[in-house]
Amino acid sequence: MKFGYFDDSKREYIITTPLTPYPWINYLGMQDFLSLISNHAGGYCFYKDARLRRITRFRYNNVPLDMGGRYFYIKDGDDFWSPSWMPTRKDLEFYQCRHGLGYTIITGRRNGIEVEQKFFVPVNENCEIHHLKITNMTNNKKDIKLFSFIEFCLWNALDDMTNFQRNFSTGEVEIEGSVIYHKTEYRERRNHYSFYSVNTPIAGFDTDRDTFLGLYRGFENPVAVEMGKSFNSEAHGWSPIASHMIELSLLPGETTELIFILGYIENEPDKKWLKKGIINKEKAYKMIEKFSKPEDVNAAFEKLKEFWNRLLDKFNVSTGIDKVDRMVNIWNQYQCMVTFNLSRSASYFESGIGRGMGFRDSNQDILGFVHQIPERARERILDLAATQLEDGGAYHQYQPLTKRGNNEIGGNFNDDPLWLILSTVHYIKETGDWTILNEMVPFENNPEKVGTMFEHLKRAFYHVVNNLGPHGLPLIGRADWNDCLNLNAFSTNPDESFQTCDNKDGKTAESVMIAGMFVYVGKEFVKLCEKTGNFELAKDAQKHIDNMKEAILNYGYDGEWFLRAYDYFGNKVGSKECDEGKIFIETQGFCVMAGIGLDDGKAISALDSVKKYLDTEHGIVLVQPAFTEYKIHLGEITSYPPGYKENAAVFCHNNPWIMIAECIVGRGDRAFEYWSKIAPSYREEISDVHKIEPYVYCQMIAGKDAYKPGEAKNSWLTGSAAWNFVAMTQWILGIRPDFDGLLIDPCIPASWEGFKVKRVFRNSVYNIEVKNPNKVSKGVKKVIVDGNEMPSNLIPAFSDGKEHFVQVIMG
Ligand code: BGC
Ligand code: NOJ
Repeated sequence: MKFGYFDDSKREYIITTPLTPYPWINYLGMQDFLSLISNHAGGYCFYKDARLRRITRFRYNNVPLDMGGRYFYIKDGDDFWSPSWMPTRKDLEFYQCRHGLGYTIITGRRNGIEVEQKFFVPVNENCEIHHLKITNMTNNKKDIKLFSFIEFCLWNALDDMTNFQRNFSTGEVEIEGSVIYHKTEYRERRNHYSFYSVNTPIAGFDTDRDTFLGLYRGFENPVAVEMGKSFNSEAHGWSPIASHMIELSLLPGETTELIFILGYIENEPDKKWLKKGIINKEKAYKMIEKFSKPEDVNAAFEKLKEFWNRLLDKFNVSTGIDKVDRMVNIWNQYQCMVTFNLSRSASYFESGIGRGMGFRDSNQDILGFVHQIPERARERILDLAATQLEDGGAYHQYQPLTKRGNNEIGGNFNDDPLWLILSTVHYIKETGDWTILNEMVPFENNPEKVGTMFEHLKRAFYHVVNNLGPHGLPLIGRADWNDCLNLNAFSTNPDESFQTCDNKDGKTAESVMIAGMFVYVGKEFVKLCEKTGNFELAKDAQKHIDNMKEAILNYGYDGEWFLRAYDYFGNKVGSKECDEGKIFIETQGFCVMAGIGLDDGKAISALDSVKKYLDTEHGIVLVQPAFTEYKIHLGEITSYPPGYKENAAVFCHNNPWIMIAECIVGRGDRAFEYWSKIAPSYREEISDVHKIEPYVYCQMIAGKDAYKPGEAKNSWLTGSAAWNFVAMTQWILGIRPDFDGLLIDPCIPASWEGFKVKRVFRNSVYNIEVKNPNKVSKGVKKVIVDGNEMPSNLIPAFSDGKEHFVQVIMG
C-alpha cells in the first residue's frame, strides 16, 4: 500500500493523505540554518547545533504524535482548521504534501478555502520562509482570519525541556509592527535572537503560549482561534510564542499571498542594543526587506532549485528502471547531503540532544557526499582530524558549534581512526587534491600540538598496529563499528549506558571486523605513502597488512564464514560453536572487500553463508540466530529483543558491504538483488509495512525474528545513505574514482543491456555509455574515449573543463 507517489520530473515525493503511517519528514537548509519539517508542518529549526541553538520547540514522543511546528489556523465563521491537517485534524477537502529538495509544500482545502504553504530555507540565508497562497474557491466573498503560530525554544534544547525552575522566568520578547522578536537570555551572554515576521499589517498578536492556547488546551483548539481574536499578550517568562492574526477578505476566485519569515540573527557583542533593553534589529530589517515581495521569494526559490539542479547534475544515470534512477539521481544523493550536514544529530528518531557530529559517522558520510561539494568535504575532514588524539585514537564525536571533540557519548572505539583514512582517500580520489595531506592540523583541538594531515593518517593506521591482541588481531576497545558489541563492558547496572559505562581495560577482546577494515583501508594508506614518496613507511605498513591478513586467515575464519571477534575470555564470537550469534554480517563484508579469501574459496563461501543464513525478503539481517537473552560479556547487542537494531535487524548500513563484496566476486545479479531489497523506491510498494519515509534509507528494518518483520525505524540520519550510494554507483554501476582517473568496472545483473551515466569528475564531464551485448555481469572488453580505444578501463582525469564521450563494451 502506498500513501503517495514519486514525481521524478519535479524531484518530489507527493504525499496524498495526512494519515501516513508515521510523520514523513524532510529537511530544509543546507549549511547553518537547518530545519526538520513533517508532512504535517511539524518539526523545528536550529542554527548550526540542534542542541545549543534550538530556535523553535518540538516535543519528542508526544501524544498525539508530531506536535509542534509551524502552524496556521483559518478561522472561517464558526469553523476553524489547519491547512497542514495538524494540529486541528479537521477533515480536508484536499490535502497534498510535496517534499522536494530543500523545500516542502503543503496544501489543504476546506469549505472552499485553499491554502498552499511553501516552506524553504533560501540558499545562504539564516531563515525559514513560509510563503502562503490563500485562495477563495467558492462563489462568495469570504471574510476569514488567519492565525500563525510557532513556539520558541529557549535555545538550549536540553535545558528547555528540563530546567523549568529557571526557564519559566527567563522568556522575553519584543513586538514591533508585524514582527515578533524572541530575545530570551539576550540581556546576558547571548548575542543572538530570532524573529517571526509577516509582510502585512496585523490585526493582533500573541506571544504568551498559555494566553493564546488557553491553559488547559492543546494546539488543536487555541482559545484565541476559537474566539477569533488575539489577546495581544506579551510573554514574560513561561513559554514565548509568536502568533499573528491577519484579517483577509477574499472575492470569489481571489488569491492572496503572505510571506512569513522565521529568522535567526547574530549581533556583534558591542552592537547588541539600540538602547537599553531594546535590541538592535538592523540585520532583521534587512532580512525582512529582502524577502518582502512574492517576486523576491519566488526568485529565492528558483535559486534553491538551480542549486540542486547543478549539484545533481554531477552524477546522473539512466538505466531505464525508474526505481533505480530516482534513487541514484535524486533521493540517495539528497539524503547524502542531509547526513553530511547533520551526522546523527537531529531527526524524528535522534533528539538533537544526544549526538553531535560522530567521528565514525561523519567520515563515512563523506563517501556519499564528496562528489557534490568537495570543498565542504575537505573542511569536514580537517575538522574531524583536529579532534584526533595524539596516539592516533579519536574522540567519538564533536559538537558542531564548538568543533571540539568530547567523550559524552563514549570513547575508545578502536575502529574510529581508520575511517579518517577512508574519507581522506575518497576525497583525494574524487578531487586529485593531494595538498590536503600537507595541511597542518592540531591534535585534540590543541594549537600547540599540530601535525600534517598525513601524520594524522599515519597515527590512525598505527593506532591499530599498536593495539593488537593475542591473535595479532586488533583489540576492540569499547566496540567497533557495531556500537553494541561491548566485549569489555560487563554491565550489570541498568542505570548506565553501554556506550559510556566503565569499560575493563581488556587486552584480549579482538575484532575481526577492524582486522578486515585495516586490510581494506591499509592498502589505500600504502598507496598514499608510495604516491607521496614515503617508501620506507609504505613497506612497513605493508608488512603490518600482510601480518593482519595472516592473522585473519589463521584465526578469523570459521570454516564457512569469517568470525566476528574474540571476547574478553578469548572465546569466539560469531562462530558455529556459539549457541546464538553464530554468524555476523560485518566481517563477511569487510574481509571480502579487503580481498581476503578471494583465491582459496573462503570469500565465496562467506558470501554464500550470508545468503543462506542472513538473507531475508526485507534485506540481510545483521546476525543469526538472534540473541534471546542478555549475555553480559557481549553487551548491548543482546539487550535488544530479537529482530531489532543490532540484534538481528536488517541494518541498511552494512548491507552495501555485502553488495560491494558480491561485486568484487563478480555476482552482479546478487548484488543488485540485495540493493533492491532495501532501496526505499522498491519498498514504497509496502509503505504500510515499512511505515517510515519511502524516499530515504533508514537505519534498521525489523528482522525476521521481530514481531513485525519489515517495519523500519530511524530514518534519514544513517550511514546507509553514503554506503548504498557507494555500492550502487561505484560498484554495481562501477563508476569509481581512483587516484589516477575514473575507473569503469560495472557489475550488473546479466540481463541488463547497459546504461548511461553522466559524471562530472575533476572538472570534466564524462558521458559514459555502457553496453552489455553478451549479457555478462562483469568484465570490460573495450573502452573508447572520444573515438580512441583505451588500453584499460581506467579513464584519465582530463581536468580540462570539457565534455568527453566514453563507450564501454562489456564482455
Ligand atoms: C544503538 C546504536 C548506536 C549507539 C550509539 C545504541 O543504543 O543501538 O545503533 O550507534 O547506541 O548511539
Ligand atoms: C549507529 C551509529 O551511528 C553508528 O556509528 C554505528 O556504527 C551503528 N549504529 C552500528 O552500531
